[in-house]
Amino acid sequence: MANVKQGKALNIQDSRILIAGAASLVGSHTADLLLKEGAREVLLLDNFSFGSMEAIAHLQNDPRVKIVRADLMRLPELLDATKGVDGVVHLAAYMTLGFSQTPWQAVDVNIRGAQNMLEACRVNQVKKFIFASSNAVYGYGTGIKGALHEETPFYSVGAPPAAILYGASKIMGEQLCRHYHQSAGQDYVVLRYSTVYGERQHYRAANSLYIMETYDLVRKGLAPVLPGDGTDTKHFVHVSDVARANVAALKSAATDVAVNVSGPAPITTGELVQLVLEYCKSSLKPEIRPDPPGKVRLTSGGAFHIPHDKAGEVIGWKPIVPMKEGVARLLAWLEEQHKKIK
Ligand SMILES: NC(=O)c1ccc[n+]([C@@H]2O[C@H](COP(=O)([O-])OP(=O)(O)OC[C@H]3O[C@@H](n4cnc5c(N)ncnc54)[C@H](O)[C@@H]3O)[C@@H](O)[C@H]2O)c1
Repeated sequence: MANVKQGKALNIQDSRILIAGAASLVGSHTADLLLKEGAREVLLLDNFSFGSMEAIAHLQNDPRVKIVRADLMRLPELLDATKGVDGVVHLAAYMTLGFSQTPWQAVDVNIRGAQNMLEACRVNQVKKFIFASSNAVYGYGTGIKGALHEETPFYSVGAPPAAILYGASKIMGEQLCRHYHQSAGQDYVVLRYSTVYGERQHYRAANSLYIMETYDLVRKGLAPVLPGDGTDTKHFVHVSDVARANVAALKSAATDVAVNVSGPAPITTGELVQLVLEYCKSSLKPEIRPDPPGKVRLTSGGAFHIPHDKAGEVIGWKPIVPMKEGVARLLAWLEEQHKKIK
């Protein structure tokens, strides 16, 4: 059993939980689960800069749901929104693609935005803060391999600048949590998600995008593209497992700790393409075509995996959705979306 500091634990049924950056993939699934577990109130905060009402439309008639249009860059709005709140799940952030397109906003939102929310939590004595970090804190340097456990240092040699900026911004966010714990006693848990995928997937995450790009090609009868020889590793986690991790962290007394949140097992790009082909019942053969220069994708060039044993010990969580089932769920959802557009 890991030796972990103990702080406040929330009883979900008695709690008002605010999700910052709620109108999207992780936020909407976390809200679904909190409501299912009987949360007293769930506040869905977003500035809708890239999330959309569509992701949370199914929740808006629930009397326990309150939609809060607010911006992480405006501290007064966060001070208002966090009054009487017991727990915050802090998700709103730019990812690698966002850092490549609009680095100004990305730096602001990921760093100052996290600090603003921690400050609002301090002022309003929010009991528990969950910070959505990323396995990008390991740097994804060329040839990274082996187990990326929680003590693995940042190794970024050869990684694209946007990926390094994103990882560094998450390190800043994590350390701001530690700072607020040390200076103000703020209880927090950092969850380092690996690549999240699933229903309500958006097109902003470089690696999950690959599943949808592959599917779109196969559906058009075109050969799926392998950016390398197919042995490159990815470690995904299904969004329903991520939502379970967020809720487990709120309920756990653990504090001042960071844990990996990854899926049951890593997968190679070759195996992933095969899963999509099987789902589509297609006999197309993948074509090897290296990514064009400047394409933002977190290629590892090595075989790595992200152990999640510590999350089991610290917050009692482990993933349950295998890749084959998760990909089928994502693609079934995607097909539904295509039908709606037609
Ligand atoms: N999706 C992944 O593959 C993945 C992997 C690892 C970590 N993460 C982390 O998980 C979190 C959630 O991921 P996601 O894919 O659901 O997020 P996302 O990229 O869809 O963004 C979440 C929401 O934040 C909102 N937002 C952006 N700027 C804001 C601001 N200034 N004020 C208020 N709201 C703002 C957006 O409108 C969006 O709805 C992020 O912190 C991300 O870094 C995601």
